[in-house]
Amino acid sequence: MLTNQIISWYLQNKRDLPWRETKDPYKIWISEIMLQQTRVATAIDYFNRFMHQFPTISDLAKAKEQEVLKLWQGLGYYSRARNLHETAKTIHTKYKGIFPKSHKDILALKGIGTYTAAAIASFAFNLPYAAVDGNVYRVLSRLYGIEKAIDSAEGKKYFQKLANETMNNARPEIYNQAIIEFGALQCIPRNPKCEICPLLSTCYAYSNKLVEQLPVKSKQIKTKNRYFYYLFLSCKSRFLVEKREIKDIWKNLYQYPLIEYDKAISTDKLIQTIEWKKLFGNQNLIIRRVSGEVIHKLSHQNLHTVFIHIEMNIDSLKNKYQIIDFSEISDYPFPKLIEDHLNNIILNNT
Ligand code: ADE
Repeated sequence: MLTNQIISWYLQNKRDLPWRETKDPYKIWISEIMLQQTRVATAIDYFNRFMHQFPTISDLAKAKEQEVLKLWQGLGYYSRARNLHETAKTIHTKYKGIFPKSHKDILALKGIGTYTAAAIASFAFNLPYAAVDGNVYRVLSRLYGIEKAIDSAEGKKYFQKLANETMNNARPEIYNQAIIEFGALQCIPRNPKCEICPLLSTCYAYSNKLVEQLPVKSKQIKTKNRYFYYLFLSCKSRFLVEKREIKDIWKNLYQYPLIEYDKAISTDKLIQTIEWKKLFGNQNLIIRRVSGEVIHKLSHQNLHTVFIHIEMNIDSLKNKYQIIDFSEISDYPFPKLIEDHLNNIILNNT
């Protein structure tokens, strides 16, 4: 039977991953949140560092949000880290630091959706909830030839029911790990390894030449272009930053003073804008360096970014921005884009 075949494939092919060696719901929770948008190879290092710094839920609950964001730096989707921290505080106070054991209570926690609740309930407590992530949608849609859109309410409901049925009486924690791993290693998005697949003879998509077409998504989210002009305003080893507090990407991370424009403009035009004049008035500034355009890609945004380096008397702007020293960089969480720029500055001293 199909479920047993996936499980026996798993037992022969599974990777040894740190979060598979534990039943601790805290560790499983952190790993699942990291894995939502991050490749396994990247997540391993972050996971180990996270556990080293915050070995228990209470350690995480007592941390400052800034420390949590710093540890998350480079992983992206920073709302995951902010939610983790908030939920750790909830568990610390409401549940005395002990992770709730029922599926209902787990699902009620902030930042934990249907997939993550099922993953924690099954991996930590062996409760019979099928965890349906992108891997599972792919495997089931191909095996059974399901053309329902995986991003529609109807599709989600359908696949959840199918996954529950496929789990049947198998041990939930093994079944869930097995089908996720099967999707991650064998039934992969492009060029799946059909020639060595144990389920080839029963796979609907393979028999009907639909492997590349499945799973189906209904919405194509359009990529938005944004134009960022970052002003690296420095004086010896000090420079200006601000905390992003608006409801947008990178909330509560730090960045250089930013002028965002709705299209690409030259530096000559930029210095004539109201935003520039508001910052600098008619000061005669010497621009030390203008970088080439760096395109930083997020899931649905391309950030066309230019860094403009000016050495100046930064104290004149200290009411509007915060001054930090290079020696303090490790205390502040920065988006990867800024971190890379800082590393270049440090390397080249330009
Ligand atoms: N992706 C999501 N959850 C996973 C897990 N537990 N192991 C490997 N990859 C995953």
